[in-house]
Amino acid sequence: MTTIALAGKGGSGKTTISSFVIDYLLRRGKRPILAVDADPNSNLNEALGVSFDGTVASVVDEIMEKKEELPAGMTKDRLLEFHLQDALSESEGFDLLVMGRTEGPGCYCRANDLLRDFMEKLSENYQYVVMDNEAGMEHLSRKTTRDVDALLIVANPTPVSLRSAERINETAKKLKLRIKKAYLVINELGMNLPAGSTEVNLPLLGKIPYDEELLKTSLNSGCVFDSPENSIARKAVFEIMEKLSCFSNGI
Ligand SMILES: Nc1ncnc2c1ncn2[C@@H]1O[C@H](COP(=O)(O)OP(=O)(O)OP(=O)(O)O)[C@@H](O)[C@H]1O
Ligand SMILES: [Mg+2]
Repeated sequence: MTTIALAGKGGSGKTTISSFVIDYLLRRGKRPILAVDADPNSNLNEALGVSFDGTVASVVDEIMEKKEELPAGMTKDRLLEFHLQDALSESEGFDLLVMGRTEGPGCYCRANDLLRDFMEKLSENYQYVVMDNEAGMEHLSRKTTRDVDALLIVANPTPVSLRSAERINETAKKLKLRIKKAYLVINELGMNLPAGSTEVNLPLLGKIPYDEELLKTSLNSGCVFDSPENSIARKAVFEIMEKLSCFSNGI
């Protein structure tokens, strides 16, 4: 099982790139895949063209806040373990798990422990786990997900976005997250910095050019898989994945 996580500043292109990564893995027969939407403001489901019924957070909230009597012999832990599965949406070649954000009053430390065990067991059913994270990487820092083989930090070629990519990498190191290798992916979005000014203390895995077709796709179905076969962004992500597979020994 290989875990690829994506992180980066808001709007940098994490969800789009995560979807193309999944597209790449599906087309190469590298399945089944677990797609994890770990960004509460995200819409990975739309980008993957699937719907979902509930989030992990809504399951946790519902069970932890439950006031009524539980059936005899049933504990909240067992109930939670049982219902976490409900947050999984199944699709062709991949399943989607939407993490969401808990709204309960306190810290659900116990729930986090259970969630960690659940994720650990669940991940074993897949060949690949692809995680679309928010900039703060909350789920990675709560260690509710297992080791990450490759962290792709997405940045646009602006000083702010690149500094943010470096900060994400430093945070990951400080938190001692078990990340085998972190890379920079530049999503150009039609921007360009003068040569030499994009130096960041991270190995550059590749650049994704601005792809006008993506705008049309997002205005139509919103599903990244529907972008035309000759999409230059898809081609660039596929090249990045080929490179990653050489660097990281078979990813
Ligand atoms: N290479 C590209 N060319 C053209 N448009 C792009 C490109 N990459 C992303 N976009 C567009 O930019 C917008 C933001 O992309 P996306 O949602 O993937 O970013 P994000 O980092 O996941 O954002 P958020 O932080 O809000 O979750 C989307 O409308 C997407 O279609
Ligand atoms: Mg997103």
